[in-house]
Amino acid sequence: MDVVETTVELAGRTLTIVHPPDPVELIDEEAFEHEEFLPYWAELWPSGVALARVVAGRPLRGKSVLELGCGLALPSIAAALDGAQVLASDWSPAALVFARGNAERNGAELETALAAWTNADKLAERGPWQLVLAADVLYERRNVEPLLALLPRLGKEALLADPGRPALRAFLDGARARWRVTETPAAELPRGGVFRLLAKSL
Ligand SMILES: C[S@@+](CC[C@H](N)C(=O)[O-])C[C@H]1O[C@@H](n2cnc3c(N)ncnc32)[C@H](O)[C@@H]1O
Repeated sequence: MDVVETTVELAGRTLTIVHPPDPVELIDEEAFEHEEFLPYWAELWPSGVALARVVAGRPLRGKSVLELGCGLALPSIAAALDGAQVLASDWSPAALVFARGNAERNGAELETALAAWTNADKLAERGPWQLVLAADVLYERRNVEPLLALLPRLGKEALLADPGRPALRAFLDGARARWRVTETPAAELPRGGVFRLLAKSL
C-alpha cells in the first residue's frame, strides 16, 4: 500500500504519522454494503490533532488510558509518550495496524484492541479507565446512542474532540444527564472543541 507521512508538532516534539494518501481508494464495496463501513480511520482528522494537543498537556504518567475510534491513534501516542498505559481501539483492523506502526515510529508503547462500540464488553472488563479519549466519533447520528451507553461503563472521565458535527448537540444533551461537561476551545476546531466529561457520581 502507498503511504504518505504527515508531521505534527506536539509539546516540543515532532511526530510523524503515516497514512494512506487517499482514503477513497480504500473503499470496499462489500464492507460498505454490510455496515456502511467507510475507511474514515485512514485520515488524520483535525479532531485527532486537537485532542492530542490537549492530552500532551496533561500529567498522565502511570494512568490507564483508552482511546475509542482511534484511527491513526495520534491522541493515544501523545498519552503513551506522557507515560500513560494506553489501549487504542477501533473496529477497523487496518486502523490498528497503522496505530501500532505509528506508535512504533514515534517511540511510543501502546496496546491495540479490535472493538466496536456496540460490542465492547472486553474494553469495559479491562476498566475502569482513568481517562477515555475519542476524536471525531460523532460523524454519524447513529453513533450517538452507542457512545452514550458505552462511556459510563468505561470510566469517570472522558475527553471528546469534535469539529461541530450535526450529531454533537444530541450527544452533549444526552451526556449532561450523567456527566459534567466543560469545553476547551481548539484552534483546529473553530466550530467545535474538546469536551471534558466528568461523571457526576465520582
Ligand atoms: C472520523 S474517524 C476519526 C479517526 C481518529 N480518531 C481521528 O480523529 O483522526 C472515526 C473513527 O472511528 C472508528 N469507528 C467508527 N464507528 C465505530 C464503531 N462503531 N466502533 C468502533 N470504531 C468505530 C472508525 O474506524 C474511525 O477510525
